[in-house]
Amino acid sequence: MSFTIAIDGPAAAGKGTLSRGIAEHFGLAHLDTGLLYRAVGARVRDGDEAVAAAQSLTQADLARDDLRSADVAQAASVVAAIPEVRAALVAFQRSFARRDGGAVLDGRDIGTVICPDAEVKLYVTASAEVRATRRFHELQAGGSDTTYDAVLEDVKARDHRDANRAEAPMKPADDAVILDTSDLDIGTVLAQAIKIVGNRR
Ligand code: DC
Repeated sequence: MSFTIAIDGPAAAGKGTLSRGIAEHFGLAHLDTGLLYRAVGARVRDGDEAVAAAQSLTQADLARDDLRSADVAQAASVVAAIPEVRAALVAFQRSFARRDGGAVLDGRDIGTVICPDAEVKLYVTASAEVRATRRFHELQAGGSDTTYDAVLEDVKARDHRDANRAEAPMKPADDAVILDTSDLDIGTVLAQAIKIVGNRR
């Protein structure tokens, strides 16, 4: 039987940690849909055309080790505004969502466009400053010499582009539960989310 959990929200709000934690707790498959857009963005940076790249993504594209870089994140946000790129990625996401045993998908438009009938919808958010601080610490720990201001600017630019595009903009579904992680540690938010999911299972 399928059971779909849709988790949306802006960059660095804690979606990834939350999605992985929920998937592990309930034994569900997990798809980070941002990786699909990142893989397309990375191919475009290599010189490929965006729509053709989206229509021919391979496992190797998804396994690239540069997908988490700040440049690829911005490229992903740019290609994600192209309707034909989004259209090329819909079927894969929907079939993953309906797999037997249940699935957690995280992204920007899962509860609104990809899985409007998801059994659980969460929208995870936090202030841009809190998110930039988290991302800055992660990058620093990884040896990057970026600055907090540069990270904050990146976060805001991506938020603006993702929330204002015409096609499938980032926004909470009407029936999503909003989780604001600005003042909460991720363990507390995960416990809240597990309770919400447990009540609907
Ligand atoms: O979640 P992420 O930071 O890895 O996503 C990278 C970019 O991909 C994000 O800025 C917007 C786009 N994206 C999208 O448009 N729709 C999704 N479902 C997931 C990501």
